[in-house]
Amino acid sequence: MTILFKEDCKEFHLYNDSVSYVIQILRNGQLGNLYCGKKLKDRESFGHLYQGELRSLAAYVFENDYELSLQHTRQEYPSYGTTDFRYPAFEVKQENGSRITQFEYRSHEIFSGKRKLEGLPATYAEEPEEAETLEITLYDALIDAELILSYTIFRDGPILARHARFVNRGSQKLVLTRALSLCVDLPDDDFEMVNLAGAWSRERHVVTRSLKQGVQGIYSLRGASSAEHNPFLALKRPHADENSGEVYGFSFVYSGNFLAQAEADTHRSTRVLMGIHPDGFEWPLASGEEFQTPEAVMVYSDSGLNGMSQTFHRLYRTRLARGRWRDRVRPILINNWEATSFDFDEAKILGIARTAKELGIELFVLDDGWFGERNNDRAGLGDWTVNRAKLPDGLQGLAAKIEAMGMSFGLWFEPEMANKDSDLFRAHPDWIIQTPGRAASPSRNQHVLDFSRREVVDEIHRQMSGVLREASISYVKWDMNRYITECYSAAMHAADQGTVFHKYILGVYDLYERLTTEFPDILFESCSSGGARFDPGILYYAPQTWTSDDTDAIERLKIQYGTSFVYPLSSMGAHVSEVPNQQLGRITPLETRANVASFGAFGYELDLNHLSEEEREVVRKQIEFVKRHRMLIQQGTFYRIRSPFEHNETGWMVVSEDRSEALVGYYQVLNGVNEGWKRLKLTGLAEEYRYRINDNSERVHYGDELMNAGIVIRKEELCGGGGDFSSALYYLKKQ
Ligand code: DGJ
Repeated sequence: MTILFKEDCKEFHLYNDSVSYVIQILRNGQLGNLYCGKKLKDRESFGHLYQGELRSLAAYVFENDYELSLQHTRQEYPSYGTTDFRYPAFEVKQENGSRITQFEYRSHEIFSGKRKLEGLPATYAEEPEEAETLEITLYDALIDAELILSYTIFRDGPILARHARFVNRGSQKLVLTRALSLCVDLPDDDFEMVNLAGAWSRERHVVTRSLKQGVQGIYSLRGASSAEHNPFLALKRPHADENSGEVYGFSFVYSGNFLAQAEADTHRSTRVLMGIHPDGFEWPLASGEEFQTPEAVMVYSDSGLNGMSQTFHRLYRTRLARGRWRDRVRPILINNWEATSFDFDEAKILGIARTAKELGIELFVLDDGWFGERNNDRAGLGDWTVNRAKLPDGLQGLAAKIEAMGMSFGLWFEPEMANKDSDLFRAHPDWIIQTPGRAASPSRNQHVLDFSRREVVDEIHRQMSGVLREASISYVKWDMNRYITECYSAAMHAADQGTVFHKYILGVYDLYERLTTEFPDILFESCSSGGARFDPGILYYAPQTWTSDDTDAIERLKIQYGTSFVYPLSSMGAHVSEVPNQQLGRITPLETRANVASFGAFGYELDLNHLSEEEREVVRKQIEFVKRHRMLIQQGTFYRIRSPFEHNETGWMVVSEDRSEALVGYYQVLNGVNEGWKRLKLTGLAEEYRYRINDNSERVHYGDELMNAGIVIRKEELCGGGGDFSSALYYLKKQ
């Protein structure tokens, strides 16, 4: 991996084995882009790739320079208002009301490794030789302000991580009304846009549309990255599929409001923008102050969507997720939420725990309802003290009893919220986010604490760290069950109200940082009404996220398939729950529920005492199976094979790094009568290896057969004999 600066032609070439990115200092000092894509052999200049012809109507020239119009020039971090009419990457409001800026190249620095983003999550290099960074400083002399654009190229993989920083060195007060993290201008528009959309309980469904002239985009203005849109979009060539063709993936390392859009312009070039949503954002920058944008990551793939996802998976699993749990085997857990809801006492909990232990489960997670007056969702949030009526021996007592059984103990929190019926709210009614004189809309009877205020974060930190110190707790589920409305902070001046959404998220990150630093052995799992905050920002602090409240195995096919576009299997909490399913009423075989959940951070969420002896035996075997193969699942290379969005069947698989073993999941939604032969063509195997399937000496095949002729799916090997919602797992081992 290298970053070269060519003094003569004023170009930067960032490249490694798989990707090239070429930046040019334009004749007016602004930054243009010459190339972004598959690796190019370096040469003296790429200037001939400049595409900036003057056209009629569009023939606006830059300051009488008849060679330069920004209107069609591919740029790095464009502004609006001179000769470019496309959506800009940033906007700075000045004291005289002007929004015109002119940031020109001043200097640059190239260094090994990657600097930390203070207070923000970001990818990292563990060793300096893993990455190289270019920081280009641009300067606007009229307002005496600097703009620093940062680009990190990683040694391993076609990855470019970017962010921007504004520094006000002058005396006037500036206001940032837009400060995105990434702009990529591509030379054509022959793309389809892929994004992950949904709602509560059907998060991250894959949506694909062809790019048309105009703006197409996704966003969140909900205060969280949201269940409705994930902070990710990809541009793929129309013919690109899972395993071949060009794809550009863009992912935003942030958990709050965001904007991600692709603008195809009149002359068929495409601008991708990604960053904090400008609506509701206004950041005053007084003299001497700085603003740092979050990071956005671009991944290039010439091996289709699987190629893109595998790059994201590796990066996010090993160089975004951190801490002791990053690489450790994840415990198989049981969570009591779907079994008991708020209605439990110690005896009931211990009853479930005892059976869980007998079946091989390693971690018991006590969900909502253990604290304050929390007997329903109308009270208690904000009061993180144990409810002695339910747990007379406290958390200490309960944790000790569970540990004595040989399991570890985990606990649920919802740190960012308060019910009005709580001691916290009674003591600090102005600590919730609400606008003076306006209604404060409750959602699930709760209100959002104003985490933009340090004293609020301090108080929740004091309460939580007290609980975590007092009892032996090895796992925390951090929930967040509503979006932000009537956004306003009682502690801020009028001019600062546009900072609240972002400062709120910085407060969340601050609390995560403090707790993960103080309790490095605790495994954190994030959650937000299921998967409403499943994003790379949170992954930096919590290596697992509860993927969805929808635990129905068939619905989970789509949810987990879509989630896998960006996020590794190790990050996806996936549990076996009871039937009829609580969200949908569907009855699926116990085997299928586990066959889906085992492609994730595996667990159970039901009262195991309600299972028959026979079913418990099935569960025992499932647990043994996952224990045997979980490192393969957690750290292997994941391939999507057949999409639940297009077929009645779904197929996916995970292959070990040395390709000596693999696990394949095959799932059928509805059964059919007298159907044709079914085959699944596998991928990612070694052509010349002989693989034994499910330990059956009769079924040994070369990798090339399995990938080109496929694996025959026999009805009798699907659970339940191949009825509706049946499935099978195939474990492949090299002979
Ligand atoms: C929403 C979560 O997604 C559920 O798993 C559960 O923890 C409930 N909240 C508890 O209130």
